[in-house]
Amino acid sequence: MLTLDNINSLYGKSHVLFDVSIDVREGEIVTLLGRNGAGKSTVLNSILGLVPNVIGKIKFNGISLVGLLTHEIVELGVCLIPEQRDIFQILSVEENLQIAQKGNSQWEIKDIYELFPRLEERKKNGGGQLSAGEQQMLAIARALLNGPKILLCDEPSEGLAPVIIQEIVSTLQRIKESGIPILLVEQNLRVCEKLADRHYIFEQGRVIHEFKKDDFLSPESAAIKYKYLSV
Ligand SMILES: Nc1ncnc2c1ncn2[C@@H]1O[C@H](COP(=O)(O)OP(=O)(O)O)[C@@H](O)[C@H]1O
Ligand SMILES: [Mg+2]
Repeated sequence: MLTLDNINSLYGKSHVLFDVSIDVREGEIVTLLGRNGAGKSTVLNSILGLVPNVIGKIKFNGISLVGLLTHEIVELGVCLIPEQRDIFQILSVEENLQIAQKGNSQWEIKDIYELFPRLEERKKNGGGQLSAGEQQMLAIARALLNGPKILLCDEPSEGLAPVIIQEIVSTLQRIKESGIPILLVEQNLRVCEKLADRHYIFEQGRVIHEFKKDDFLSPESAAIKYKYLSV
């Protein structure tokens, strides 16, 4: 449903992505892996129209995204949860949720409180008073209320305690089961192995390997993980 075909992305004269071809199919969680600076966030930003110069084809449900404005891409149901977890610090949790709610979303605030009971407990608190894990939950919640058809998620587990990571993992699993595919940038290998149907490994702006879930768990993948992911 989302296809990138030979994408080259540039920030000014700085050429960051080289002939990147990836796809996300109906019902999948797909991860992008690679060291810092490999170009993973640039892939997500290129899809959203946030990189000034993108050459190549990006199609979402048959619609070409290259050249569209970011808000037009968002209106098609492509939703990005950026690494810095855009939430409104001065609004309460509930206000953050209320302004995110769109009429055409299959998710309502009551569903969000069921998914994240923690957010209901904290609903009167300001966004800025939340822990990092709660902020990530709120960022995911806001994305769901927007009625996404696909979710792009940039390092959701970054800086979170293991027990919170568990919660985020099971939430992403439930989102997938609700029918929303996810393109996930993630450094935590355990999270990737648990969640993803397929993996793309990036190195210096190129896709150098693609793995299916089972192949990624096989002993043969260990050398590649060691070489390109430093594990
Ligand atoms: N806004 C920007 N302007 C110029 N260069 C950028 C910008 N954002 C990222 N880069 C460069 O693009 C490369 C890939 O970055 P990024 O996509 O953030 O990697 P990753 O997410 O894999 O850590 C890096 O060399 C980075 O310095
Ligand atoms: Mg990044």
